[in-house]
Amino acid sequence: MDIVVTPDPQTAADEAAAWIARQLRLAVRRRGAASVAFSGGSTPALMLAALAGLAVPWEATTVFQVDERVAPDGDPDRNASLLDVLRPHRPSIKLMSVTSADLGAARRRYAALLPDRLDVVHLGVGDDGHTASWPPGDPVIDDRRTVAISGEYKGRVRMTLTVPVVNGARHRLVLATGAAKAPVIEGWLLHNHDLPVDRVSRTNTIVMLDADAAARLPSGHPVPPASGTRRSR
Ligand code: 6PG
Repeated sequence: MDIVVTPDPQTAADEAAAWIARQLRLAVRRRGAASVAFSGGSTPALMLAALAGLAVPWEATTVFQVDERVAPDGDPDRNASLLDVLRPHRPSIKLMSVTSADLGAARRRYAALLPDRLDVVHLGVGDDGHTASWPPGDPVIDDRRTVAISGEYKGRVRMTLTVPVVNGARHRLVLATGAAKAPVIEGWLLHNHDLPVDRVSRTNTIVMLDADAAARLPSGHPVPPASGTRRSR
């Protein structure tokens, strides 16, 4: 697992976007197609905006969701709108059908869209150590299917990729920024708490942090150079 620490959230977003763009270009060069799944929340917006400005073979790239809140179209809770910034490039975007009256059927339909292995999965980390839509204590984390439905979490049931799909991907990028994330990043990376994010494979996974989110890692208060400090664990 590589850990990259950058001075600020924008640099972390830019570095994460550049890393994803590289992985997608490589995937298309090697296999003629690329696939990436993005998480939601508030952190990805800067990264997705940066990614929209980079050289990516979008015509050969399929974009998936890692998870989506079960809420009406256009609801501010929905993650789907985060992907709108990519639409001018016309990638194939596969949204989770969370407005379906039959979520079980919608779950199965989404599972059928997934490739055998995603090239890249982007993940965030919640303050409580969740990632994707694997809330602490929710049995969804042990679901062995490819797509599952979580219990209610912060007022919404969610559709989510599962641990086998996330860990079956060729590469994972975890992006976390801000001082509020420092305790959970410390807990995850140093103490292996029984946190949902602990279930993410550390092989072929890069963790992209800003200095605030990394502040409680062993190096204390890193003062990383302009681009970022790379450490491996
Ligand atoms: C979601 C996300 C979730 C997110 C974390 C971090 O739908 O809420 O997929 O897993 O990545 O909660 O969210 P922030 O980026 O808002 O801190």
